[in-house]
Amino acid sequence: MRSKEQNLQGNYLDSLFPIHNAAMKRAKLEAKNFGVEGISVSAHEMRIIQWAIKACGIRKMVEIGTLTGFSGLGLLESLPQEGALWTFEKDESRAKQAKVIFEEALRADTSGSKKQVYVKCGDARNELETIIDEGPFDGIFIDGNKSAYCDYLAWAERNLRKGGLILADNVFLSGAVYDQVTDKSKDKSNNSGGRPRFNSKQISVMRAFNARLCDSSLFDSCIVPSVEGLLIAIKLF
Ligand SMILES: C[S@@+](CC[C@H](N)C(=O)[O-])C[C@H]1O[C@@H](n2cnc3c(N)ncnc32)[C@H](O)[C@@H]1O
Repeated sequence: MRSKEQNLQGNYLDSLFPIHNAAMKRAKLEAKNFGVEGISVSAHEMRIIQWAIKACGIRKMVEIGTLTGFSGLGLLESLPQEGALWTFEKDESRAKQAKVIFEEALRADTSGSKKQVYVKCGDARNELETIIDEGPFDGIFIDGNKSAYCDYLAWAERNLRKGGLILADNVFLSGAVYDQVTDKSKDKSNNSGGRPRFNSKQISVMRAFNARLCDSSLFDSCIVPSVEGLLIAIKLF
């Protein structure tokens, strides 16, 4: 649960970096219609992600966890004219909706851009293997199921070029990585300060994910200490 201070700070940052992109506004609205508006990245976190993509000259980007396309549209916006995005979503109705929004956004773009978006519906743990011939890729944004973050990292290590960019949201698991060691199926007491509960597998996967990406012999990394935690890393090998 966010503190009053965190909410105020988030609102202030969102007011400094408002969303101008009509398709992104629509994606947020459709997420609201699915009843999951709150699980998209915030506008100001998207700004950090876009900044990193532009700074690193990313052209071929992969995303895990499309939802209705909010973050994917943000990624697309920051790619160069010949950029391409492969985005994975296991929920069929969300993937279908995202596809419509991406297609409309590309049609509305009159800049002569040749950007491409491929929405891949299915479990990313399997589907990622279907695109490896398109690689090596320049970057990946990991925002899917938390228990598979290490699987996504293993794929990225194999399929991103040296110097590739890895971005991952929710690496604090709402605080559980540093302040919750309980398994929700075993512990009925609420000692998580009102935060969402995560099970011991999710917590241990995220701790291993963070530890590997913070190994300076493998990655040049940092963590933006937002409420959810945004990890940014450059692959050094
Ligand atoms: C946090 S939401 C993504 C939000 C989106 N990146 C945004 O900011 O607009 C996570 C999404 O990942 C999807 N997801 C969960 N497990 C998945 C898997 N194994 N493969 C692909 N997508 C998955 C969920 O259905 C959900 O829509």
